[in-house]
Amino acid sequence: MKRVLLVIGGGIAAYKCLDLIRRLRERGHAVRCVMTKAAQEFITPLAVGAISNDRVATELFDLDAEREIGHIRLAREADIVVVAPATADLLARMAQGHANDLATAVLLATRAPILAAPAMNPAMWSHAATRRNVRQLEADGVTFIGPNAGEMAERGEAGVGRMAEVPELVERIESVLADGGSESGFGFLNVSASGRASASQPAQPLAGRHVLVTSGPTHEPIDPVRYIANRSSGKQGHAIADAARRLGARVTLVSGPVQIADPDGVDVRHVETARQMLEAVEAALPADIAVFAAAVADWRVAAPGRGKIKKTAGAAPPSLELVENPDILGTVAKRGTRRPSLVVGFAAETQSVVENAKTKRKAKGVDWIVANDVSESEGVFGGDRNRVHLVTAEGVEDWPEMGKDEVADALLKRAAALLAEKRESV
Ligand code: PMT
Repeated sequence: MKRVLLVIGGGIAAYKCLDLIRRLRERGHAVRCVMTKAAQEFITPLAVGAISNDRVATELFDLDAEREIGHIRLAREADIVVVAPATADLLARMAQGHANDLATAVLLATRAPILAAPAMNPAMWSHAATRRNVRQLEADGVTFIGPNAGEMAERGEAGVGRMAEVPELVERIESVLADGGSESGFGFLNVSASGRASASQPAQPLAGRHVLVTSGPTHEPIDPVRYIANRSSGKQGHAIADAARRLGARVTLVSGPVQIADPDGVDVRHVETARQMLEAVEAALPADIAVFAAAVADWRVAAPGRGKIKKTAGAAPPSLELVENPDILGTVAKRGTRRPSLVVGFAAETQSVVENAKTKRKAKGVDWIVANDVSESEGVFGGDRNRVHLVTAEGVEDWPEMGKDEVADALLKRAAALLAEKRESV
C-alpha cells in the first residue's frame, strides 16, 4: 500500500480529483487530501473526505489537526505528493517557495516526489511567467504530467491547458512510485539540488508500447534519374517519432527520403517509394499506435523507364501514364488482424480542411485524423510550426499554432491517455 498525498488546487478540473481518489483507492493506495481555499470553491471537503475516507486538511493553523496530523507529518507520511489541478497561481507560489497556506507549506516540507498536473487557460500556460515557473520547478525536481491539448471549460476555447485524464494520472503516479517510492516514504533514488526526491525517469506513459510512424515524402521513379515527389521535409513525422520515444515507447519510423537526421533511439527504416513504405510498415506490425504523417504519392508512373528517357530534338514530350499507389493508411486501418489499437492519419488539405479531413477519416477507417492546411501561405511543408485540427469520432478540436515538436508531444500524450483509458476499461 502506498500513501498518496493529493494537493487539490482551485480550478474547474478539481472535480476530476474525486474520480482520481476513487481509482487510486480501488488500486489499494491510501489517499489523503489537502485542499486550497480556492479548491473548496469547486468541490467540497465533505465530498473529498467521503471518497478518500480520511479527514481533509485545509488549514495551516488548525490546532486540532496540528495535534493529529500537522503539516510536517502530512508531508512526511506521503510516498508521493500529487498536485492536481496545479493552477498557474499554485505553480507560481511553489516556484517561489511560499508556505503561507497548508498546501504550499506541505509542498515545501515534503521530501517525497512531487507530481504536478497543471490545468489552466492555454494563454496562461504559454505565458512567459508560467514557463519560467515550470522550468524552476523542474530544476527543483518536480515532475509534470500534461497539460493536454483539447477543449477548455470556457466555451469555444481550445488549446494546451487541460489537466491530464484520470487513467493517465493513475498510470503516472504508479510509475513514479515504482521508480522510487518506498513503503517508508523516503527511500528514493534521485535527490535533486533541493534535496527533494524526484522520479528517476522523465514521464513515460508509453513505456512498453510500440509506436509506428511514417514520415517524409515518397519518391516515385520516372526513370533512373527522375522522380515524382512532394514538399514534405519529414519534420512533423520525425517530431512524432521523437516524442513517442521520449514518452517511453519503442519506436519504428518508416521514412521517405529526407534531408533531416534520424531521431536518436528510434529504429528507422529508410524507403523511397509508396510500395516500399507499405512493405516496411507491414513488416513493423504489430504496433499499439500507428501515426501516418508521411506525404505518400497517390500515384506512381505505370512503367518507369529502365534507362534515362532521352530528349530527342523535334520529338513530342513523353506522356506519363500514372497508376494509383496502395493506400498505406487505409490498408493498416482496415486490417482484420494486427490492427494497431489507435490508427492516426494526417490530412494535408488546401481547402475545406476540416470537412475533407472528416471525409478522409471515415473513408479510410481511421480513429483520428490530424488535419493541416498545407497552402503555401501557411508554410507547413518544410516549416517548424503547424496549426492542426484533431478530428475524432467525438468531434473536432482546433489546436492553436504550435511548434511541430509541441504538436507531436500533445498528440502522443493524447494517444497515451486513450490507451491508458482503454487498458483501464478492460
Ligand atoms: O514533412 P513536413 O514538411 O514536416 O510537413 C508535414 C506534412 C504536411 C507532410 C504532414 O503534416 C502531413 O499532413 N502529412 C500527410 C500528408 C498527406 O499525404 O496527406 P493526404 O491527405 O494526402 O493523405 C491522408 C493520409 O493518408 C496521410 O496520413 C497519408 O500518410 C496517408 N496516405 C496517403 C496516400 C497513400 N497512398 N497512402 C497513405 O498512407
